[in-house]
Formats: sequence, structure tokens, C-alpha cells
Amino acid sequence: MDRVAGVKILTTIAAVGAEPRRKPRVLVPTMGALHKAHGELIRVARERAGKDGEVVVSIFVNPLQFEPGSDYERYPRPQKADEEFCRSAGVDLLFRPSVEEVYPNDRSTFVEEISLSSTLEGKSRPGHFRGVCTVVAKLFNILAPDAAVFGEKDFQQLAIVRRMVRDLNFNIDIVAVPTVREEDDLACSSRNQYLNPEERKQATILHDALRAAANAGKRSASDIVALARKTINEAPLARIDYVEVVDAETLQPLEMSGPNTVLLVAVFFGKTRLIDNITLA
Ligand code: PAF
Repeated sequence: MDRVAGVKILTTIAAVGAEPRRKPRVLVPTMGALHKAHGELIRVARERAGKDGEVVVSIFVNPLQFEPGSDYERYPRPQKADEEFCRSAGVDLLFRPSVEEVYPNDRSTFVEEISLSSTLEGKSRPGHFRGVCTVVAKLFNILAPDAAVFGEKDFQQLAIVRRMVRDLNFNIDIVAVPTVREEDDLACSSRNQYLNPEERKQATILHDALRAAANAGKRSASDIVALARKTINEAPLARIDYVEVVDAETLQPLEMSGPNTVLLVAVFFGKTRLIDNITLA
């Protein structure tokens, strides 16, 4: 076991098992490259854990959720900076296993949600949510948290994790945290650092498009989508993957927006694919 001033760093499942635990244990699952949105997840976890509980952050770049040819190899892994981030955010325990620790070579079991995963990100990134569900289920089993915190930026992921928790009877509260944004309203993401300065500048169109479409007073999904697309297309470097209006729970496309509706977008700027969403009134 390693320790960075106050943060215990565990890298094996056996070490987690041997660690005395405080209740409630609140988990923030991450892939590292921690930034201010993770800081907010950790802050909410701290609040939830209270003075007697503990905040656990996991850092694991999960190969199973990257499609072939995507950015698994080049995904940022700033180990020291992440440790320092956890220390200054008041994390109690950092679980940072290797790929071999998490996935035995002869593994043959996966966790797959098959309804909510078939749309949006699931269509564009086949196998992605199977990878997410498998690793999140494993982290839940390994770390046995009482609650786990997820960001609303990954709206579909949050819905799928909730469904998995319900369907598989995990006794874990899922806590949702609103999207954290940069000063110019771009949603915080570890992938923002891939953007070159011009792409970064143009990427702010995403939130402009969501806001404009949400506030135009339209109810027809096709009008809302058309408005969002028109705004996004004003950025010459933007290449739209999808713009969809869906039910917030089932993630099925809707014809009219209602009380439980969300507008989601996925857009490439160069090679970098960004996602964002807004709740429609
Ligand atoms: O949102 C993420 O960072 C990842 O998908 C998660 C939940 C840590 C699983 O690898």
C-alpha cells in the first residue's frame, strides 16, 4: 500500500478486502486525468459520506469500453497529477488497479444492458456500454460502496448504470451530479485536451446550440433537433454524429418534448468526439 499525504493508494483487490472500511463508503468511479468536474463529483461524494464515512476514487482506464481503433492507447494517464488531485480534494482511498488485476486473461463473463444501450452512444460505439457495465459492476463488487456518484454529462451512462443497479439488485444509491462546465460553457471532459485551439474555440457551439434549441419555445422534436443542428453547423469544424430528443428514462426518441425529455448531442471536432445534453422543459 502506498500513501500520498492522507490518501491511501490501493492497487490490488486483496488490499481492498483487507482494508478496514468506514460507512458510508461513497465511490467516484473515474478513468483518471482528473479535472474540475471530477472535483465536483468528489465534493458531492464527501458531502454524502459525511464525517464518519469515506470517499473512494477509482482510476482505471477500462480497455473494454474503448472501441477498436479509438483512443485507448493515447488516453491521458497523468498518475502523479491525479494523486495530487485526490490528495487536495480530500479523498480517503484511491483504488488504481492494473488491467491484469481487473481482467484475468481467460475472462468470459460480461455485464450487458440491452435496451438503453442500443441507442445514441451505443449505436455509435458498439460494445461501449457492455464495457462500462462490466467494469462498474466489478468495481461495485470489489469496493462494495453504499453510494456511487456519476456525472450527468454522460447522461446515457447514468441511465444505464441506474438500470443495471435496479436489474441486478445492487444495494447502492446512484447519485447524479449536474454537468460541470468551463467558463465558456464547454462541458468539462478529459477529452477536451485533445482539441487544438481552433477546435476548442468552436466546441463552445455545443452548449449554445443546446440552449438555443431548448429555449426556442418549440415542442416538436424535429423542430428542436433542426434548430440545434443549424447552430452546430455554424461551426465549420463541427461534424455531427447525432442530435436527438429522447425520453430521459427509456432513452427512446420522442416526437414531442414533455416534462421528462432530454436533448443530446455528439459532435466531432477533428478527431475528438464530444457529447453534451440539456433537459427540456
Ligand atoms: O465515466 C467514466 O469515466 C467511465 O465510463 C467509468 C464510469 C469510470 C467506467 O469506466
